[in-house]
Amino acid sequence: METTRHHIEPAAGRLGVLTVGLGAVASTVAAGVELVRRGLAEPVGSLTQLGTIRVAAGPASLIRDVVPLAGVDQLVFGAWDPVPDTAYEAALRCGVLDRLAHIEPIAGELKEIEPMPAAFDRSYVRRLDGPNVKPETGRRDLAEAIRKDIRDFRAAHSCDRMVVICCASTETFLEPGPAHQDLDALEAAIDADDASVPPSMLYAYAALKEGVPFINGAPNLTIDVPAMAELAHAAGVPIAGKDFKSGQTLVKTVLAPMLKARMLGLQGWYSTNILGNRDGEVLDDPGSFRTKEKTKLGVLEHMLQPGLYPQLYGDVQHKVRINYYPPRGDSKESWDNIDIVGWLGYPMQIKVDFLCRDSILAAPLVLDLVLFTDLAQRAGLTGVQEWLSFYFKNPQHAPGAEPEHDLFIQQASLKNTLRWLMGEERRSA
Ligand SMILES: NC(=O)c1ccc[n+]([C@@H]2O[C@H](COP(=O)([O-])OP(=O)(O)OC[C@H]3O[C@@H](n4cnc5c(N)ncnc54)[C@H](O)[C@@H]3O)[C@@H](O)[C@H]2O)c1
Repeated sequence: METTRHHIEPAAGRLGVLTVGLGAVASTVAAGVELVRRGLAEPVGSLTQLGTIRVAAGPASLIRDVVPLAGVDQLVFGAWDPVPDTAYEAALRCGVLDRLAHIEPIAGELKEIEPMPAAFDRSYVRRLDGPNVKPETGRRDLAEAIRKDIRDFRAAHSCDRMVVICCASTETFLEPGPAHQDLDALEAAIDADDASVPPSMLYAYAALKEGVPFINGAPNLTIDVPAMAELAHAAGVPIAGKDFKSGQTLVKTVLAPMLKARMLGLQGWYSTNILGNRDGEVLDDPGSFRTKEKTKLGVLEHMLQPGLYPQLYGDVQHKVRINYYPPRGDSKESWDNIDIVGWLGYPMQIKVDFLCRDSILAAPLVLDLVLFTDLAQRAGLTGVQEWLSFYFKNPQHAPGAEPEHDLFIQQASLKNTLRWLMGEERRSA
C-alpha cells in the first residue's frame, strides 16, 4: 500500500479558467463562483466545496481542508464565444439565474468577462452563428491565435496557472480517423487545414501545447483520441472528458447498478427529454444529436455486462431522445421508462420524471473539475485522469481498459485517488 505523500506544488496564486463557450453552463459557473465567494449563495452540488473524506483513522473532514485545492477566491474567468455577449448578457439571455437575486448583485464582475473571438465553423454546429470569430486563415493560424489568447490572458490577469474547459456547443458527429491516431498525424492535419480537425480540437491542441490542462464537458470527440493523449503526456499535463454527467445519465448510472446488484433483469430503457435552451436547439440538428446520443447510449452496456449475464441483459432495448421545446428553457424534463424483469420472469416498470435545471446541475461539476484538474497538474499527473470519471457520461480511459460508469465506484475511485495523493491508505468508501 502506498503511504508516501505525493509531492504537490502549492495552490498559491491565481488560477485562470478559460471556458470554450460562454453560454448557459459557463455563465452559470462564473456567476456562481462570484456569489459563493461573496457569501451570497451556497455551492450546492460541489464535492470540492461541501464533500468530506476520511483519511487515516481521523474523522470525516472537508475535502478542501485535507487536500491542497485552489480556493474559489483564486479563480479568474475568461472565455471564447462566437456570440459577443459578456457573461452578464449571457446570464440574462440564458434565463438560468434569478436576475435580482443572482445576476444584478455581481453585474460588474460578469460584465468584465468578455468573450475572445472564437475559432468557429458553422459546418460543425449548424444551428448556430455569431460575429465574434477569428478570421478563417486556416487551422494552423487558428491554433496559434488560441495559444496567443491563452498567453495574453495569463499575463493580463497575472495567473500562476491555467485550465481550459470546453463548455461549447455539441459539434456534428465525427468518427476518429487517421489524423487522430498520433501527434505527427494531427500536426500534419492541422497544417493541411484538414476537415477532420474541428474547432474543439484546436482549443485542446492549443491548451496542451501551452502546458495547460484541458477538460471536455461537451460530448465532442476533441481529446478522446490517441493523438491528444500523446500530446498531453508529452506536454506533461492532465486531460479529462467527456460530456458532463449531470442529469438523466446521473440517475441511470445509479439505477442500473441497483438492478444488477439484485440480479433483476432489464428488457428496455426508454429515455426522453424536453429542453428549450440553446443546447437543445443545437441538439435538434441530427449531426449534433448523434454526437450526444453516442455518449448517452454507451452507459448501460458497460454497466450491465450482457456477456456475463445474457439471461438478464442480453436483449435490452435502449433508446434516447432529445426534443427541443422552447417553453422549457434551461428547465429540462427528462423521463425514463424502465421495463425490468423479476422472479420467474414477471415484468415490472420503473418511471422516473426528473424536473431538473440543466446548468444548475452542470455548474458545480465545472468547478470541481477545474479544481481537481489543477490539483492533478500540481501533483505531476499527466494524460487521461480516469479518477475523474465521476463527472462524465462517457469517461475517457486508458487504451484496452473498460470505462467505469457506476457512480459509486467512480466516487470511491475519486476519493481513493485523493487519499493516495495525500499518502494515505486506500479505502472502500
Ligand atoms: N447539464 C448540462 O447543461 C450539460 C450536461 C452535459 C453536457 N453539456 C454540454 O455542455 C455544452 C454547453 O452547454 P450549454 O447549455 O452551456 O450550451 P449553450 O448553447 O448555452 O452554450 C454553448 C456556447 O458555446 C458557444 N460555442 C459554440 N461553438 C463554439 C466555438 N467553436 N468556440 C467557442 N464557443 C463556441 C455557443 O455560442 C454558446 O454560447 C454543450 O456541449 C452541452 O451538450 C451540458
